[in-house]
Amino acid sequence: MAQKDNEVREGLEGVVAFESTISHIDGTVPELVIRGYDINDIVGNLTFEQMSYLLLFGELPSSIQLTDFDAELKSLRQVPKSVLAFLSSVPKSSEPMSILRTAVSMLGCIDSESGLNDQNSVLIKLKSLIAKIPTIVAAQARINVGETPLQPDLSLSHSSNYYYMVTGEVADEKTLNAFDAVLVIYAEHEINASTFACRVVMGTESDIYSSVVAGISAIKGPLHGGAIDGSMNMLKEIGSAENAENYVKDALAQKRKLPGFGHRVYRAGDPRAHVLKRMTLDLANSRNDSHWFDIALEAEKQMASLKSIIPNVDYYAAPLLSHIGFPVILMTNVVTSARIAGWSAHILEQYGKNRLIRPRAKYTGKSGLKIHKP
Ligand code: ACO
Repeated sequence: MAQKDNEVREGLEGVVAFESTISHIDGTVPELVIRGYDINDIVGNLTFEQMSYLLLFGELPSSIQLTDFDAELKSLRQVPKSVLAFLSSVPKSSEPMSILRTAVSMLGCIDSESGLNDQNSVLIKLKSLIAKIPTIVAAQARINVGETPLQPDLSLSHSSNYYYMVTGEVADEKTLNAFDAVLVIYAEHEINASTFACRVVMGTESDIYSSVVAGISAIKGPLHGGAIDGSMNMLKEIGSAENAENYVKDALAQKRKLPGFGHRVYRAGDPRAHVLKRMTLDLANSRNDSHWFDIALEAEKQMASLKSIIPNVDYYAAPLLSHIGFPVILMTNVVTSARIAGWSAHILEQYGKNRLIRPRAKYTGKSGLKIHKP
């Protein structure tokens, strides 16, 4: 529907801001298509490295391209000592996403070429962030439990090394596949709030790090990526499947927004949530522990019958990550470490065809006032 002159669309709902070749959501089907591939086809068939390549370059890599890309990401995993020192020195009470935001900002300060915005420099910095953000998040995880951060293991794939740096263990195949799939699922999602924030900053010809810091600042909010922590905390609060009905009824009566439910674009279902639900059930069965899945399923049923609101990507990702050993307080950080791939594609697209992003406001304030000098 065309936007009429001076018509305000609260929350920019339905506003088409850019042409993009990166991804497309059809909330009515519902479907998510990334670089031409349906998310259902992507999950289980592409590794995070392949997904990142697809996002950055628009096409799947040949095996030689993948080998080179993988080697390049591996060579970029290490983070500077000063960033690790910051992670160790920051108060334990600080928000994990604020710590990550500051660490990425520090990377920008340390990079003597941070302001170089030619195509090649931009690409190298983005690959570096895709490789380094997991190292930062893993270091946060280790420091939180009083352990020393681990060095990246260059013999392991992106997800395998990430899991190892967080837990100190090499993941079994099932765990690794689940973790890699979560990273792939979170990698890209059109012009969501954080991606828009990245593009707005890139649109001013600012530097890559500032653009990514803007994305991190937006994704940490509880209405966006921050909802994953909220979802897990909610499942804990509900406590048992039997308690789900009362919990959901009370929350709705108090007009509370339940984390992990609802979506601006998907009103009929989030395809990512369907995949994650299947994967969470599979993991729960294989571990003979369906505690979180049972609670989530019952709360989902209650939401469907009381308010017809669908679970979004965060709802089942939270118990899944919990199953494979990720602490609740770092779940949004994990989401960020995946979404950096999608942000990178959008930053490149914005950079390649830039026009300053500058919407207007409909003025509803006072007018005609005069300054009276005393
Ligand atoms: N719990 C309860 N009610 C909800 C929820 C929810 N999670 N989400 C929407 N609703 C209700 C609203 O209260 C409203 O009801 P009403 O018509 O009776 O007033 C109706 O559904 C429409 O909701 P809106 O607020 O208009 O939806 P909007 O598009 O503005 O918000 C949002 C979308 C922010 C995602 C919202 O659903 C929400 O707050 N969800 C919880 C947070 C969350 O899970 N965010 C993650 C989104 S996915 C991601 O970013 C990774």
